[in-house]
Amino acid sequence: MDSPVLNQLFRRLFRHPACQQSLRQPPSSISRQTRTFLTRRTPTKRKSQGDGLLWTKRGDYPKNIDEEYWSYPTVTAKDLRNRRERPRQVKMLTREFIDDSLYNPHYGYFSKHATIFSPGEPFDFNTIEDGPAFHRLLGQRYTEFEDLLDEKKPDIARQLWHTPTELFRPYYGETIARYLVSNYKLTLYPYHDLIIYEMGAGNGTMMLNILDFIRDTDYEVYQRTKYKIIEISPALADLQTKNLLDTLNAKGHRDRVEIINRSIFDWDTYVHSPCFFLALEVFDNFAHDTVRFNTRTELPQQGGVLIDADCEFHEYYNTQLDPVAARFLRVRQAASRRPFPSPLGPWYLRGIRSAPPFRKEFSLPEYIPTRLMQFFDVLNQYFPAHRLVASDFSSLPDAVPGLNAPVVQTRYQRRTVPVTTPFVHQGYFDIFFPTDFNVVEDVYRAVTGKLTQVMSHEDFVDRWAYVEDTETRNGENPLLTWYKNASMLMTV
Ligand SMILES: C[S@@+](CC[C@H](N)C(=O)[O-])C[C@H]1O[C@@H](n2cnc3c(N)ncnc32)[C@H](O)[C@@H]1O
Repeated sequence: MDSPVLNQLFRRLFRHPACQQSLRQPPSSISRQTRTFLTRRTPTKRKSQGDGLLWTKRGDYPKNIDEEYWSYPTVTAKDLRNRRERPRQVKMLTREFIDDSLYNPHYGYFSKHATIFSPGEPFDFNTIEDGPAFHRLLGQRYTEFEDLLDEKKPDIARQLWHTPTELFRPYYGETIARYLVSNYKLTLYPYHDLIIYEMGAGNGTMMLNILDFIRDTDYEVYQRTKYKIIEISPALADLQTKNLLDTLNAKGHRDRVEIINRSIFDWDTYVHSPCFFLALEVFDNFAHDTVRFNTRTELPQQGGVLIDADCEFHEYYNTQLDPVAARFLRVRQAASRRPFPSPLGPWYLRGIRSAPPFRKEFSLPEYIPTRLMQFFDVLNQYFPAHRLVASDFSSLPDAVPGLNAPVVQTRYQRRTVPVTTPFVHQGYFDIFFPTDFNVVEDVYRAVTGKLTQVMSHEDFVDRWAYVEDTETRNGENPLLTWYKNASMLMTV
């Protein structure tokens, strides 16, 4: 057991108060959420001299970091890729810290603890009594799945996700396939092949379900179908290749499939052909930057974290925005077709809020989706004829404080432990964000010049699924009701 690391993890956990259950975890009947023993400490703020640097020190660590701030180098997640040790004596922008924490190949969360739940046999919804009975059954399968994993390789900090692709397989995959084939036939067939890219394919289940569906319903289209997965996680890419190889061979799909183990942000191949680009529950792990605003001047400051010699984290804010964050704010301002939320609150209340006794010097942080904007750059530059089909959470309960803020949680001995800051021991925490589909749609349009449609997950499924497949005996339909806080963004 990795006990020094766990000690350190829990030292950090003790510093941050717990919040409530969030979404990517199993429903509450499966994993009970406990409020833990953690206590809240009020952070103090201190202003330094110099170029407007401000830092927030943790309440229990009375250390001035001015000197370190000036002497430590600023590093990126890319700089740390080949390092096996977590960094110290460095500064990082928030997005770089989150990227490193999630994706570092040696200690990153994706390389160590992330596992996607698979129910084994698909659920036979028509024979299940009702929603609660489905919950119970899912709970059982969840435990069995984890028991099996523990037999092979125990992991007290394992993270287990469940996604609609897995819970509702093969029906959710068939729903997406129906959308793809209809749109392909309407606009591209017979002049182009059906080329599907899937970014972040998890266990590869969506790919199998889509290919099965196309083969069984439209063999002519199937013969012209190619499916390419772009997967950042070596472990998941390996699983997709190894575990699926037999299935793919047995089903005759092998020649249609390519699995590319690479981050989409390292993509460098120009794809001129029209293609569909699937991104299902991938945006939520794309790193964000933090900005906060001076309540008097309304000017932004960008957030980062300084990691000192003892691996302690100190948040800081700087009045100088880096080019990526500055561009996001500019693009959003120029592209938005409607007012977007601000941590300063609605404009008509700002006068009151900035007057004593309500006045606070700075707003809460806002988390801005800078990596997502960069993903749109990749689509625009390398996939000019793509059509995006993306789905993700539109809101998340129990996020850390701030606007558009993430849920940060770990799992310890099968229990979820949420915390209140993303600046926690790298690699042990899932950090996932809601997507503001209104803002993101406008930014996507501005970057790619394409037209789009946003709809709720429920409306999409209602339109493209055979909903009777996922109906329980009493008429409830978990495929429609379970993902109320998810939406879809499609290029039209
Ligand atoms: C929550 S899982 C979703 C899996 C699958 N789409 C599903 O719905 O079951 C997120 C997936 O995205 C992958 N991923 C995250 N960031 C990525 C990136 N920058 N490039 C490629 N894949 C990425 C993860 O490794 C994982 O497979």
